[in-house]
Amino acid sequence: MMHQAHVTIAGAGFYVPPRVVTNNDLSQRLETDDEWIVQRTGIRQRHLVEESVTTTDLATRAAWAALDQSGTAAEEIDLVIVATSTPDDRFPSTAARVQHAIGATHAAAFDLSAACSGFVYATAVGSQWIETGCFRNALVVGVDVFSRIVDWRDRRTAILFGDGAGAVLLRRTEKPYPYYLSLGADGSGGELLRAPMGGPVSMNGTEVYKFGVRIIPSLLQEALQALHLTIDDLALVIPHQANARIIESAAKKGGYPFEKFFLNVDRYGNTSAASIPIALTEALQQKVVREGDLVAMIGFGGGLTWGIHVLSVYAR
Ligand code: UT7
Repeated sequence: MMHQAHVTIAGAGFYVPPRVVTNNDLSQRLETDDEWIVQRTGIRQRHLVEESVTTTDLATRAAWAALDQSGTAAEEIDLVIVATSTPDDRFPSTAARVQHAIGATHAAAFDLSAACSGFVYATAVGSQWIETGCFRNALVVGVDVFSRIVDWRDRRTAILFGDGAGAVLLRRTEKPYPYYLSLGADGSGGELLRAPMGGPVSMNGTEVYKFGVRIIPSLLQEALQALHLTIDDLALVIPHQANARIIESAAKKGGYPFEKFFLNVDRYGNTSAASIPIALTEALQQKVVREGDLVAMIGFGGGLTWGIHVLSVYAR
């Protein structure tokens, strides 16, 4: 596995629909309460779409924001990848629709499905094509609208998810920068987290919880060891925002300082493929991550799938 690559995150942006649904709002229609949800998950509210809003709408707005922030014109994009498990149609892909909506007239476009690991899988693909010299600018979007696929009568799953989209612009750099990638899958765990065609999300919460707590520190340790770095060399770890308790337990298990892990699940819930780019954008906005810094993005979820991607931000 390569430990350097000519690729950086040149910009990021996100979009969530304006409608905020609090835990108390949910307790009006489900047998649940704010205290239970906060204690078990750290989630306080989530943003949910109105009926007329599509996955493409969210993805397009996030794409615009990332382009804007990176100062890149749509015509300069060579590739659009959209990671999603909730596309509007089987085809055309969400990516093709985004490509058209933003005017990325020179870009190839396709969707990628790896559930909550989708964004890390997609940055892996995009960055590798950049490293080969095939492409210079890749727009990677993570978007999901789980409010359309959860069973709103099932309190064990309905409380967890929110809708949203996040995007990054990956760009080729002159010099190589630290880089690490590791992806994995175990289809034998497919039933633990599933959304069948036309049916709602079902989940074995306890098993998925344990999987998250195990895989986060294991991936982080693998990456740091390979790069001959310590946790202090990373500006930030951006884990998939599934549940604050999973992240806290994972940090403890690996012996890593919890402050290194970015957390915003309290405000957005689990937005699946969108959670990492939304978190990354907020970290950039808060200046927690600055030019040349290294970040580790860690995804895990349905498949089962998992992945870690370490790369630099705003490098030249
Ligand atoms: O992207 C990955 C997506 N998946 C995840 O992140 C999920 C990972 N798993 C989890 O986060 C946790 O397993 C949950 C938050 C889903 C559940 O927490 P838990 O501590 O594992 O609770 P549990 O499933 O063991 O349920 C404990 C109790 C049960 O009642 P009884 O059987 O003990 O009487 C549930 O019926 O809590 C009950 N319960 C609830 N009560 C109030 C389950 N959901 C709720 C709820 N409100 N929303």
